[in-house]
Amino acid sequence: MKEQSTDPTRRGFLDVFIGICSAIMGAFVAIPGLMYLWPAAKGGAGEEVEVKGAKNLSAGESNILQVKGKAVLVVRTNSGFEAYSAICPHLGCLVKWEGVKREFLCPCHAAVFDSKGQVLSGPSPGPLSPYKVKEVGEKVFVSAV
Ligand code: FES
Repeated sequence: MKEQSTDPTRRGFLDVFIGICSAIMGAFVAIPGLMYLWPAAKGGAGEEVEVKGAKNLSAGESNILQVKGKAVLVVRTNSGFEAYSAICPHLGCLVKWEGVKREFLCPCHAAVFDSKGQVLSGPSPGPLSPYKVKEVGEKVFVSAV
């Protein structure tokens, strides 16, 4: 017959130690799961990203940046700035701004979008998503709509 340990100090220590280890392991599993379920918590719902060098762009030129991890094209127009998702709604390739034609072009399957992101031709099932642009003095900020 095996004798059980009756030392209350050792048993108490092991119970607390196992409890702490379980809590830490649970946190390692739960925190990434919660971050996945609430992605807005990562960057904030109204995250504004400054467009570096925006005021140096001439009308018809563009700049690309990331807003909440998504590629966004900012285009300087004659009247200000506009921003659209740089991700093609067809299969997710990065679109390019063709300043001379004033169109967005997807190099993967030749979808073409006008300067407002609307589909002109090609297989895209929808337009490019617009982003909000805010000008504050010499700075330009882009955020999700
Ligand atoms: S991914 Fe852009 S047209 Fe197919």
